[in-house]
Amino acid sequence: MKTIALFNNKGGVGKTTLAFHLTWMLHHLGERVLAVDLDPQANLTAAFLPDEEVELLWDAKPPSTVYGAVEPLLERLGDIHEPSVHVVADGLALVAGDLALARFEERLAETWPRCLDDNPSSAADAFRVTTAFHRIVTRAAAAQSATVAILDVGPSLGALNRAALVAADFVVVPLAADLFSLRGLRNLGPTLAEWRTGWEERRKRPRVPDGLDMPTGAMKPLGYVVLQHAARKASEPARAYSRWIRRFPEAFHSNILRDAVPVGDDPSRISLLRHFRSLLPMALEARKPIFDLTAADGAIGSHAATVCDARAVFEELARAIGMRAVVGQWAQSSSEKPRRKRDG
Ligand SMILES: Nc1ncnc2c1ncn2[C@@H]1O[C@H](COP(=O)(O)OP(=O)(O)OP(=O)(O)O)[C@@H](O)[C@H]1O
Ligand SMILES: [Mg+2]
Repeated sequence: MKTIALFNNKGGVGKTTLAFHLTWMLHHLGERVLAVDLDPQANLTAAFLPDEEVELLWDAKPPSTVYGAVEPLLERLGDIHEPSVHVVADGLALVAGDLALARFEERLAETWPRCLDDNPSSAADAFRVTTAFHRIVTRAAAAQSATVAILDVGPSLGALNRAALVAADFVVVPLAADLFSLRGLRNLGPTLAEWRTGWEERRKRPRVPDGLDMPTGAMKPLGYVVLQHAARKASEPARAYSRWIRRFPEAFHSNILRDAVPVGDDPSRISLLRHFRSLLPMALEARKPIFDLTAADGAIGSHAATVCDARAVFEELARAIGMRAVVGQWAQSSSEKPRRKRDG
């Protein structure tokens, strides 16, 4: 099982939208996928489920969400609960997000330094808290026989996201084609490097509790996906964006990968996503990815053609990510698995 986080501390760059579409496309390609909403805004959960269902998950005792699983750690009443998994379709499941997850941030922040503590019970508590997301993802994925877990996180460089990234084998960086995303890479690169080495140092300590399932914390960058038009600047002409897009290879390679900038096409650029405009609200309304919209959902005329384009774009994107992360079918070196038939 491979865990892939979509991460950028810059808000509104399309992380959740990409997480939703990547989850569905990997499922269409035949993978068993677990989506995990680790953003206290819970937007990914809202993309999958209607409000009435979300309310039921939040009101359950304990909540049937990621917060419900970590609650005993927060209340200092023991280790994580078995995570609740919401089955969206056969082979596609969700660990639901929760606004209450924000309460876990402080506990994660105070336990990170305590992983280095010489006091065994303090260090044991710190490791249980720091690895909570990893253990939730691993258990939920095992329960669903998932080959891949997609993590959606909020826009921050705080302790919640550090724990989420410690749980990630791979990172994909969604970027908007603007100055803010370009400059953001200068913070993202050093932060990822600090988290990686910080976890490396911790997991080698002698105070790791016996039998605790420990992540490697590899957080290997697979590349970036550019959202061509940020919604707030949709009135600007397309060429205004290309000057930022041209500068991403240098910024990504020097800050994130810390290697030489390639000559010619950047292999780290996984996709250049167009802005799908009114199709995205239509998809959110139907609780479907854009590429599954039908005439009954309102995708008629030129929209129907865009739905086909979107299917091709996301299929290419999901295959590229699947191959780079060596997920499921791409791990079996020779023959590919047959594609799952789309419902309806
Ligand atoms: N390819 C796209 N086409 C059209 N609209 C898009 C596309 N990608 C994202 N959007 C829209 O842009 C806005 C921000 O997207 P999204 O919520 O996915 O970003 P985010 O990075 O997850 O934000 P946050 O940092 O708040 O979690 C949303 O309104 C979303 O519907
Ligand atoms: Mg989001």
